Amino acid sequence: MQKILVEGGNPLKGKVRVSGAKNSAVALLPAAILAESKVIIEGLPQISDVDILAQLLEEIGGSVSMQGRTVHIDPSNMVSMPLPNGRVKKLRASYYFMGAMLGRFKKAVIGLPGGCHLGPRPIDQHIKGFEALGAKVTNEQGAIYLRADELRGARIYLDVVSVGATINIMLAAVRAKGKTIIENAAKEPEIIDVATLLTSMGAKIKGAGTDVIRIEGVDSLTGCMHTIIPDRIEAGTYTILAAAQGEKVLIDNVIPQHLESLLAKLREMGVVIEEGDEQLLVQPGKELKSVDIKTLVYPGFPTDLQQPFTSLLTKATGTGVVSDTIYQARFKHIDELRRMNAQIKVEGGSAIVSGPVQLEGAKVKASDLRAGAALIVAGLMADGVTEITGLEHIDRGYEQLTEKLTNLGANIWREEMTEEEIEQFQNS
Ligand code: EPU
Repeated sequence: MQKILVEGGNPLKGKVRVSGAKNSAVALLPAAILAESKVIIEGLPQISDVDILAQLLEEIGGSVSMQGRTVHIDPSNMVSMPLPNGRVKKLRASYYFMGAMLGRFKKAVIGLPGGCHLGPRPIDQHIKGFEALGAKVTNEQGAIYLRADELRGARIYLDVVSVGATINIMLAAVRAKGKTIIENAAKEPEIIDVATLLTSMGAKIKGAGTDVIRIEGVDSLTGCMHTIIPDRIEAGTYTILAAAQGEKVLIDNVIPQHLESLLAKLREMGVVIEEGDEQLLVQPGKELKSVDIKTLVYPGFPTDLQQPFTSLLTKATGTGVVSDTIYQARFKHIDELRRMNAQIKVEGGSAIVSGPVQLEGAKVKASDLRAGAALIVAGLMADGVTEITGLEHIDRGYEQLTEKLTNLGANIWREEMTEEEIEQFQNS
């Protein structure tokens, strides 16, 4: 088991290249189940969530060959094997096996998904969609059983705007008979990316990226080649890092339009950002001013950037109020930031950050992926050395984080934990 050590204070400068989008990749891989011939996906991020999904595809009989960032998936010998637990529990996105296996085999048995602990994360809207398409869905001893004699298109209104439910329903509906309409659909760029892959496979989908998606089911889908979009959350994390501790950082392989809400907030704080077609040049302003943020569904401020943004606010002058309307309990990073001298109160579901303060290095624990990103931002700004444990969360979503930051001039490295440290970590 390893920990990250960061010695704060070094100014970041140079260029960083953003990897392929995690939250697209984790849906594109299961989507390959729906094809009858080889699917090639290019530009995958090299993160542990991708490795686990590739293993799950193999578990159901897929032939998966990973060559660097390109994966070749031959789904022709896949079968509807139950996937009750084990790897399924390691990540949230294993729930996409439900929609994809239901679409292809009309049946699936999948354990309940895991993923970051961000408070309650129900999947009732996914199930509502599957049932509307004609599936019988039961929950038996911690596994979801799905079965349909036939999937029929339906009109489905999502009571909650959900990325996962929108994608999962699309995956099943592309193979349903007739027309499906998903109303109040999520509009995240990852949904468009999955729809693009499915369309290349022969699916008929209109409206992805708007809140009404129309799907005309088809009898079969074929293999195809697809290049994944850049990771807007990784790009956003580096943009925040550059605002916090950058001198002049060029972020490459980014779609600036995907980050409009973040860029607007950073500019309000005084950060200077130039946008190119696929690049952002970020320079800190003279003084950072506090702002309030409220996370919303896309194109609002992303919940996945709320935690690293909170760290940045500790450096800004004034009081910033952070409210997360997507995951009201996504505040586990706050106690850790307080250990580093951050002045943050949690009141009525909001975090109130007072600044500026000089953060100080401390021993902290990443309790989830983006909490990890928040601690990295804090560690780079802090006086002294910060030790971050819980790297299994960070490695789920950030490719080569320490290498990318070292290239930008950060003093950051990994070390093996001693047995005593591992024991302390496990008991904490
Ligand atoms: N919700 C329900 N019922 C459902 C589904 C969702 O009530 O059936 C609620 C959730 O509890 C939450 C809200 O709806 O309050 C939005 O959840 P959504 O379904 O959109 O989240 P998700 O699909 O499970 C994805 C990302 C998350 C990201 C959220 C919100 C993946 C694999 N995960 O989760 O990413 O925070 O959308 O944008 O795509 C991360 O990358 O760190 C991460 C957690």
